[in-house]
Amino acid sequence: MTNNKEQWSSRFGFIMAAAGSAIGLGNLWKFPYITGTNGGAVFLLLYIVFLVLLGIPILLSELSIGRFAGMNAIDSCKKIDSKWGFAGAFGIAGAFGVMSSYCVVGGWVIRYIINSVTDAGMSADYFSEFSSRGLEPILWTLVFMAITCFIVTGGVAKGIERVSSILLPILIVFLLGIMIYSLTLPNAIEGVKFFLVPDFSEIEGFSGFMRIALNAMGQVFFSLSLGMGTLITYGSYLPKESRLLQSTVTVVVMDTVIALAAGFAILPAVFSFGLEPGGGFGLIFQTLPVVFSRMNGGTFISAIFFVLVLFAALTSSISLLEVIVAWVCTKTKLTRTWAAIIVSALIFAAGSLASLSVGAVPQLSVGDVPLFNFFTFMSDKVIMPLGGFFICLLTGWIWGIPNASEEISNSGKLKFRARKLFSVTVRYIAPALIAVIFVTSVFSGE
Ligand code: TRP
Repeated sequence: MTNNKEQWSSRFGFIMAAAGSAIGLGNLWKFPYITGTNGGAVFLLLYIVFLVLLGIPILLSELSIGRFAGMNAIDSCKKIDSKWGFAGAFGIAGAFGVMSSYCVVGGWVIRYIINSVTDAGMSADYFSEFSSRGLEPILWTLVFMAITCFIVTGGVAKGIERVSSILLPILIVFLLGIMIYSLTLPNAIEGVKFFLVPDFSEIEGFSGFMRIALNAMGQVFFSLSLGMGTLITYGSYLPKESRLLQSTVTVVVMDTVIALAAGFAILPAVFSFGLEPGGGFGLIFQTLPVVFSRMNGGTFISAIFFVLVLFAALTSSISLLEVIVAWVCTKTKLTRTWAAIIVSALIFAAGSLASLSVGAVPQLSVGDVPLFNFFTFMSDKVIMPLGGFFICLLTGWIWGIPNASEEISNSGKLKFRARKLFSVTVRYIAPALIAVIFVTSVFSGE
């Protein structure tokens, strides 16, 4: 076990890398549609509550453990307690689960870049027609996976990281522009109401509420890349004088701003065009092309927008693939290149099944849940929350609040005013919340 000597070159660089991991399809594709399928504002409210009660304490714990131990996720947890290495091990399974649907959606994004250029598929109905073609979506999945694999083997990840710290701000500007445009569409206000004004009467009893709560929790984990040890690894590259709490809050705020902007860009348009907000995972692909087609120079804007989405997806997918490849390399004699190719092929195989399950071959399902949704369920709602649960226990009870606070306050050099709050959330509230939501929803079925 050797300490990491590698470090982020600047605070900005670290924030961009952590935000680059967090910001991805989770914000741009998933957040708007999952808000739509879970009743809108009630979901948003729970999402924000969970950001505070789960997101911030767990993110802060992961970064602190990583910076304290300075090693990969598993060894960092082991350094705190030799029996706790498993708490850092959820990343491998989690990364595989996330990637098997991520590569499918990444493929759709590539198809939509091309659509923008050829001016095809700019209508709302195009998406379901396209996604139910058996072979074609799989080919785009393959393209996305190949790009991800190429970057990971080619070692241009550093370059991509740099490019993304330029593209991320551009993405924000674009998203704000699209958001403003959407808000001026006729009837947009209905979408804003749906997004911001909770309607508790729409919830179907206790089990309906728990389903929304589970989805909100899963989304917090997915969007912030929590519970998979990714941020332990990122924390291990932080210099000792960095400010952990401040970095945590910055990443959470940036991630949330992007998700909210995506929500404001999509939901008003959904209502304006008379589409169904609960339409599911095709939502951005059904609405945005219609929005773009009404703008002057819309095809051009559409192409740039989907390129930016692709970049956001790639910065996440390369770090996800990297998690598995790094692990395979330590466990086998495979070279990096072969490890990356084999792992990518396995992900592509799972992704192809996932793709077919929501299109041409609905029989590919577990019970009546299509494989695509099943993989997502396992990663967002089982693996990541379990990982987060153990991170909380490790930080709150094994490492202990005094030690964690020592790390977070840089040995008392910084004030850690939220220490009490951190202690209560990480020791009691977060683990209890995860356990309650997890148990009730797993037993009541998704
Ligand atoms: N947060 C990413 C997104 O919103 C997805 C993700 C989950 C992730 N876990 C991760 C990315 C771990 C990188 C590493 O799209």
